[in-house]
Amino acid sequence: MAKNSIANHSSKSAKTSAQPHFHQRGNEIQPFGTVTSMTPLQLEEAVRLEMTEQLNLLLADTMTLRDLYKKSHWQVAGPTFYQLHLLFDKHFEEQSELVDTIAERIQLLGGIAIAMAHDVAEATRIERPPKGREAVPVQLSRLLDAHQVIIENVRELAERADKLGDDGTNDMLVSDLLRTNELQVWFVSEHLVDEPTVRDAEGENTPAARKSA
Ligand SMILES: [Fe+2]
Repeated sequence: MAKNSIANHSSKSAKTSAQPHFHQRGNEIQPFGTVTSMTPLQLEEAVRLEMTEQLNLLLADTMTLRDLYKKSHWQVAGPTFYQLHLLFDKHFEEQSELVDTIAERIQLLGGIAIAMAHDVAEATRIERPPKGREAVPVQLSRLLDAHQVIIENVRELAERADKLGDDGTNDMLVSDLLRTNELQVWFVSEHLVDEPTVRDAEGENTPAARKSA
C-alpha cells in the first residue's frame, strides 16, 4: 500500500512542467574570442574584435588590481592599519565598478568578457604577489606598480580606440579608467613620502629649537 502511494506520487510529479531540469551541459552559444557579426552600432567587426581583445586584457588587470586591494585590506599591519584598511576597501569598491564597466562594454561590442579567476590569472600582466603577508611599503609599491601597468595600457588603448572611431570605448577609457586610476595613484603614493609623524625630522621646528635660535 505504501509502495503504491509512493509510485502514484512520483508519477504525478513527473507530469508537472514546473520540475527544474538539473545538471545540464551543452555547447557554447558563442566561443570566446569572437564577436557577433552584426550589430546596429555602426562599428566594423574588425574594430570590435580588436577592442574586445584588448579590453579583456585590461579587464584581467583590473580584476587583479581589485583583488590586490582586498588582499591589502585584509593583510595590512602597523600604525597606519585603520586608515589604510579603509582606503584599500574604498579603492576595491571603485575598481569593482570599473570591472563591471569594462566587462559590459565588451559584451555590448558583441564580444565575451572573461570572468573566472583561472582565466584572469592566465591573462593578467600584473606581477603575482606572494600568498603571505607583506609590509605596508611593499603593499603600497605593489599597488602602484599595478596601477602603472593599467594606466600605460589605458592610454595606448584610448588612442587606438580614437583612431578606429570607437568613441564609446575611448570615452570609457579616459573618463572612467584613466581618471579613477590616476586619483587612486595619488592617494596611495602620498603614503610613501617619508614624512615624520610626531617630530620634525631636522629638529628645527620644536619650541626648544626656536628658543635657542
Ligand atoms: Fe572588510
